[in-house]
Amino acid sequence: MKRILSCMQPTNNLQLGNYLGALRNWVKLQDDGDSECLYGIVDLHAITVKHDPAALTNATRSAAAAYIAAGVDPKKSSIFAQSAVPAHSQMMWLFSCMTPMGWLNRMTQFKEKAGKKKDQASLGLYSYPVLMAADILIYQATHVPVGDDQKQHLELARDIAASFNQHYAGGDTFFTMPEPVIMGEATRVMSLRDGTAKMSKSAESDMSRINLTDDADTIANKIRKAKTDPGAVPSNKEEAEGRPEALNLLTIYGALSDTSAEASMAEFGGQQFSVLKNALSDLAVAKLTPITSRMNELLTDPAEIDAILAKGAEKARALSQPTVDETMKLMGFWS
Ligand code: TYM
Repeated sequence: MKRILSCMQPTNNLQLGNYLGALRNWVKLQDDGDSECLYGIVDLHAITVKHDPAALTNATRSAAAAYIAAGVDPKKSSIFAQSAVPAHSQMMWLFSCMTPMGWLNRMTQFKEKAGKKKDQASLGLYSYPVLMAADILIYQATHVPVGDDQKQHLELARDIAASFNQHYAGGDTFFTMPEPVIMGEATRVMSLRDGTAKMSKSAESDMSRINLTDDADTIANKIRKAKTDPGAVPSNKEEAEGRPEALNLLTIYGALSDTSAEASMAEFGGQQFSVLKNALSDLAVAKLTPITSRMNELLTDPAEIDAILAKGAEKARALSQPTVDETMKLMGFWS
């Protein structure tokens, strides 16, 4: 049986990239029915940068509501907060002591996030990928559905697993090698203002992203104002080359219509961008606003969300603790 594990950082504002690159695929994998699915909200990762405690609690609930509104069914999948499962931080320390700093120095996300102020960045921001490896390996996850930007972190998790297996498990497969699942048409959704930058919840301009909490007018306005180029909509991959903004809109249309960027090119190629933008607005509104309404509805009953998180955490604790206990034994700890 497959064990699927994936996580997101808590935020009140999940964006379209989170949905198309990850969340939607989580639901597909859950509905395939042949796997056990665990979907975490990684609140411990959220404190690697300055945070507001009250906002964190709300953001965690809000992320849980977004998961459910998008189709994660708490009866089929476990939804939990990372902080409610001690095994994550416990395992992180064990892994920290066997992960060479050289491996972490290669992580591009740290370089991007710390920027020029590397010395002021927290130790947690630097060691973030080790906690992520713990998130995955404590569950012996077989598959990890993520967007393209998490590939390097997944490779680090695999390196840590292989290193542990070799040094402490005599070459046996104690830790399952997790496979990244980077699926669907939009594995890397780009900013609406700059087709060479990833769409992200932390980008300064709200116009660069579509949030799952945006209303219909806001979505339409953002798409209307999205950057394009002076040409007509490209009709094929060759024509789209060097035109990242055009390719991004076509890819989003392809993903939201369950087809492909090529199919969007066949449909809109040669026409003005306004035609594509109008169609994309209608489609995005049709696909996203029901999720927003459901999410708002769920958030009127925080106790129900908390109960779902409590149940998910109970399951996650039961699944992860034996692996941590066994890991400690293999590393020579007394208990
Ligand atoms: P996070 O919270 O930044 O993003 C959550 C998921 O959304 C995907 N994603 C995107 N996909 C396509 N296009 C985009 N523009 C885009 N932006 C975000 C991400 O790839 C991710 O799948 N480190 C992780 C969270 C994490 C995790 C884990 C994931 C912690 N532990 C264990 C999987 C397994 C992160 O910050 O994702």
